[in-house]
Amino acid sequence: MANKLDAAAVLSLCVVLAFTLAGQSAAAGRYYGDKVQDTVRKEVEKAIAYDRSIGPALVRLVFHDCWINGCDGSVLLDKTPTDGTNTEKKAVINIGLAGFQLIDTIKQQLGPNASCADIVAFAGRDAADILSGGKIFYTIPGGRKDGVVSSAKVADANLPESTFDFDQLQNNFNARGFSVEELVVLSGAHSIGVAHLSSYQDRLGRADSTPIDPDYQAALNKTTPLSLLQKGQNPTVPNNVRDETAAFQTDAAYDPVAMGVSPEKIVLDNSYYHNNLVNKVLFESDWVLRTDGDAADKLEEYKENATEWHSDFAAAMVKLSSLPAQGKNFEIRKNCRVTNKQYYY
Ligand code: HEM
Repeated sequence: MANKLDAAAVLSLCVVLAFTLAGQSAAAGRYYGDKVQDTVRKEVEKAIAYDRSIGPALVRLVFHDCWINGCDGSVLLDKTPTDGTNTEKKAVINIGLAGFQLIDTIKQQLGPNASCADIVAFAGRDAADILSGGKIFYTIPGGRKDGVVSSAKVADANLPESTFDFDQLQNNFNARGFSVEELVVLSGAHSIGVAHLSSYQDRLGRADSTPIDPDYQAALNKTTPLSLLQKGQNPTVPNNVRDETAAFQTDAAYDPVAMGVSPEKIVLDNSYYHNNLVNKVLFESDWVLRTDGDAADKLEEYKENATEWHSDFAAAMVKLSSLPAQGKNFEIRKNCRVTNKQYYY
């Protein structure tokens, strides 16, 4: 009897291992035959294998870099001649931005062979590939140049806020040539990563103005009550209820499998659309996509058709990663955190 049980346990372990390895190998080991891209790839694979949470940070970094002055590595700067130390990183909107040390590590290996802006774009691309199990993959050229300005004020004024209503989101995306469809497709990035309490505090007490599922809201209030902010604490929770603990999911009446969502955590997939359509998304800016007819149709479409979302997300990331750098002085920085010169004319 004991032997039979042991054999069954070994067999199920093998099955679990085989599935795990299959999932990992779908995206692992994708190389490009190009020194810059291969170096980025190797380091991103290593970093995600060590700590998967670096992956969402890298995807977000592409958005926050390219949305401000185009893709110019401005988000990485600690100091510039015109902005001093009040750079984009210091913007309130950039709370939680991460991945800077990994970008430094990659830059140290590549030296003048790659701009910091290219490293950000390639690292985000590889993170999306790995976190989607190889389902989101796109090619993008190199050749981006690094900018020499980076202003916290400009970032705060131009990146979308989690309290935006639909018109504000639409205007913000249109200003950079992105459609409502692309807004909906890119918002699916919130299937991964985390958010600070300060970023979703408006969702904890105002259920009437921005509908949020009451069980999900109660679970959030239980784990991260608003009172923590008054005590000077600002904890994080997963953006995706799928990535919450089992206890949280019980409180939130969320059963991923019953919802048709894969329970595997920190996976970039279309679970965001399943969750949004039952009001179990964190930000007001996520939920408000339901208030526009075209956007709501797209939410349904991406919920039903994961393959379509994977390919539309990849296409939108290509467009995002290609936003041209703006300004008059460009260079390939020696160190991603500072400009090469002290003055530019
Ligand atoms: C549509 C407008 C958007 C708004 C209002 C928004 C807002 C936010 C906020 C408030 C956070 C949490 C920050 C914190 O508290 O730490 C966040 C996290 C994140 N966002 Fe967005 N976002 C938007 C679009 C996007 C886009 C276009 C992408 C990428 C394509 C993206 C990717 C992410 C990722 C991956 C995270 C998690 C980062 C991490 O865990 O390190 N977001 N977003």
